[in-house]
Amino acid sequence: MLKKLIRKNDKAISIYLNERVENAQKEQLPDHIAIIMDGNGRWAKKRALPRVAGHHEGMQTVRKITRFANEVGIKTLTLYAFSTENWKRPKIEVEFLMRLPEEFLNSYLPELMEQNIQVRMMGNIELLPEHTKKAVTKAMEQTAENNGLILNFALNYGSRDEIVQAVKKIALDIQEGNMEINDITENNINSYLMTKDLSEPDLLIRTSGEVRLSNFMLWQLAYTEFWFTDTLWPDFDQECLIEAIETFQKRNRRYGGIKEEETN
Ligand code: FPP
Repeated sequence: MLKKLIRKNDKAISIYLNERVENAQKEQLPDHIAIIMDGNGRWAKKRALPRVAGHHEGMQTVRKITRFANEVGIKTLTLYAFSTENWKRPKIEVEFLMRLPEEFLNSYLPELMEQNIQVRMMGNIELLPEHTKKAVTKAMEQTAENNGLILNFALNYGSRDEIVQAVKKIALDIQEGNMEINDITENNINSYLMTKDLSEPDLLIRTSGEVRLSNFMLWQLAYTEFWFTDTLWPDFDQECLIEAIETFQKRNRRYGGIKEEETN
């Protein structure tokens, strides 16, 4: 099975990467990886191509990394594909970005089914163009019974907006007498978020050298390990993901506490 994992021409590299995958699988893998896919525009600029060519290449990386993450044994992969702020981009770029989920899902739905991948989306679906909404809804319905990797697209997603919506729903439930102020707990707030039935990300990756969260999963990332790379998203490959996982496995997650051996 591992032989299938890395499809690189160079056999030596392929064996070397497969060994790293096998070693990573012997330790605790991150259940949930979230990725801020950045650098498509710069990738295109370096090649004197229009920005949208970078987004299109980025879509191929989504395909490659989704397949690989599933094969490695990651349970959930959340990808920041379009933020509530991305509407500010030139109309032509926005239109292109809104066509990508459709192109991706139309081209690769059979492959996603074969790989037992479940497609989900978080974000405000109502504001998406009809064709995008239709493609995403169809993919979510068709893959709903799959129990392999959850591929969760953050599309028209903004964390502050998510929190505002959650606060409004809580206020309404209190107003209507369905709950009391003292019922508000961290778990309860979780249940009002778009990630209510997902685990929190264990590992956050941001590509392209930018080191900020850009309104992404602000509540959910409270105890997440962060990994930043200068690699531009279209150049991100299996080796980058394994490197991120290996770094995660070396981290000492304490959740605000201390390790037992450090108590004296
Ligand atoms: C940020 O790079 C990237 C985006 C806003 C879009 C990300 C979208 C994809 C990777 C493709 C999504 C694919 C599917 C299937 C939904 P940027 O344009 O800001 O890059 P720059 O900082 O170099 O200009």
